[in-house]
Amino acid sequence: MKGFISGLPKVELHLHLEGTLEPELMFTLAERNNVILPYSSIESLKAAYQFHDLQAFLDIYYQGALVLQTEQDFYDLTYAYLKRCKEEHIIHTEVFFDPQIHTQTGTPFDTVTGGVTRALKDGEANLGITSGLIMCFLRDLSEDEAIETLKQAILYKDDIVAVGLDSSESGNPPEKFERVFAMARNTGFKTVAHAGEEGSADYIWGAINALKVDRIDHGVRCSDDPKLVDYLVEHQLPLTVCPLSNVQLNVFDDIAHHNIVDLLKQGVLVTINSDDPAYFGGYLNENYLAVAEAFDLTKQEVARFSENAIKASFLSDEKKQLLQ
Ligand code: ADE
Ligand code: ZN
Repeated sequence: MKGFISGLPKVELHLHLEGTLEPELMFTLAERNNVILPYSSIESLKAAYQFHDLQAFLDIYYQGALVLQTEQDFYDLTYAYLKRCKEEHIIHTEVFFDPQIHTQTGTPFDTVTGGVTRALKDGEANLGITSGLIMCFLRDLSEDEAIETLKQAILYKDDIVAVGLDSSESGNPPEKFERVFAMARNTGFKTVAHAGEEGSADYIWGAINALKVDRIDHGVRCSDDPKLVDYLVEHQLPLTVCPLSNVQLNVFDDIAHHNIVDLLKQGVLVTINSDDPAYFGGYLNENYLAVAEAFDLTKQEVARFSENAIKASFLSDEKKQLLQ
């Protein structure tokens, strides 16, 4: 199974670039930019990676992301992930970035987006990996701040395929961002939103009805509402599920209790993704393997996840057909 998964051509749809910041690169960039980290060694940093919930993770993730300051830093981060994609046989990836983490502390939007897009272009030219860039709004900030960020993204319309919504879910429902998502859709961006990771099934309905999203990120709490599961099946609205992340953040006790295979069997368009692999202890192949082993899946069942990801991607129908 391990060999089968490694060799399987895969598509990733839920990956935060800042979540690929490996401890080694974090220390290198901290030194390069004279940032003092509150950890004396890579080992003590890794020892802090014990998250009892989403907020505990986000606190560490935002702190780590502050070592990223120059265009070259964002390039190096992105290109390191693309090299990993090559090793893992990921042929297409749609990646998130969180510009507001960086603009809030004085790094210009152009520095962030410039470095990321230059690496994505080089990744396609040198490694043959195609990609889409998704700009997320931080949902714990205001909608006005999201609108300001959207205005900056419009200048990169050719480089950004979609907007998304991430960060602290509880207390920040999708409805808070209804206007900015309407503006984004009217400008021609696709839309996605994290919903139903820690938040209830109502947050998933909010993403569907208020934000009119093309995909739901996580969405695992849909199982609490049978009508919602029926809706997802009927409309084939994709879920980008992140199994190892969900276990690390205590959304599920362990992989054996995860609902992804249940959802697959019910006909939901579920996909497997890695979320923040530098923090959650596994890139895409390890997420596939954990699910395959826990549920004793056949190769055919495992391949369904990869077929679903092609279907759920923002690639053109023509390109999807070439990959199927
Ligand atoms: N930002 C990075 N990873 C995230 C996650 N799993 N949920 C919400 N926001 C995030
Ligand atoms: Zn995520």
